[in-house]
Amino acid sequence: MFTPGEFDRWAENYDSEVERGQGLPFEGYAGVLERVFQRAGVRPGLSVLDLGCGTGNLTARFVQAGCRVWGSDFSAEMLKIARRKVPGARFFQHQLGNPLPADVPQHYARMVSAYVFHHFDQAGKIALLTHLRNHLEPGGWIVIGDIAFPNAEARQQAKQAAADAWDEEPYWLVEDDLPALRAAGFQAAFEPVSFCAGVFLIQPEMA
Ligand SMILES: C[S@@+](CC[C@H](N)C(=O)[O-])C[C@H]1O[C@@H](n2cnc3c(N)ncnc32)[C@H](O)[C@@H]1O
Repeated sequence: MFTPGEFDRWAENYDSEVERGQGLPFEGYAGVLERVFQRAGVRPGLSVLDLGCGTGNLTARFVQAGCRVWGSDFSAEMLKIARRKVPGARFFQHQLGNPLPADVPQHYARMVSAYVFHHFDQAGKIALLTHLRNHLEPGGWIVIGDIAFPNAEARQQAKQAAADAWDEEPYWLVEDDLPALRAAGFQAAFEPVSFCAGVFLIQPEMA
C-alpha cells in the first residue's frame, strides 16, 4: 500500500507522465478518462465526487460539463496542483475508506475515480465500494477507470512484456472481480479501453 508521501513526490511530474499515454500503466489514459465521463451520464448541476482525484484531470471534465464537483485525495501535493488547475471544483484531503469529513456533502449522484482502486486488493476494493454505496444518492452509480486485465493470462502477458517496468499491484482481473462485485450486491459491467485499462460501471442492486 502506498503512502501520501509517495504521491506527494510524484505530483509535479505526474501530468507529463500520463500525457504520454503509452505503455503500462497509462496506455489509453485520455480515452479512459473520457469513457468514465461518458458512462457517468451527467447533466449540469449533478453532484459528482472524484475519488483519488490527483492533479484533477478527471475532475476538470465534470466541471466543464456544469456539474457540482468535489475531488478527494490523500496527497496534499496532488491537491495543490488540482486546486490550481481546476478552480471550479472543491477539493478536500481524505484517505479512502475513512469517514467523509463532516463539512462536505455526504451523498453524491455520481462517484467517479481513475487509476486509484488498483492499489486495493479484491477484498479491499469490495470493502471500499460497500462503504461508498452509503454515500450515493438513490439511483446513483459509480464509474471507475483503472488498470485492468480481462483475465490472468492477459495479465501475465503484460507482465512479461513490461519486464522491469512491471509494478506488482492488485490490478483488476475482470473475470474474477465482476463475479465478486455481483456477489457483494452490485450490478457491474466492464468496458475495455486499452490492453491494460478500462472502465467499470458499478451500481448497488436495488434492495
Ligand atoms: C495514479 S494517481 C490517479 C490520479 C487521477 N485520478 C488521474 O486519473 O489522473 C492515484 C491517486 O490516488 C491517490 N490515492 C492513492 N491511494 C489513496 C488512498 N488510499 N486514499 C486517498 N487517495 C489515494 C494518490 O494520492 C493519487 O493522487
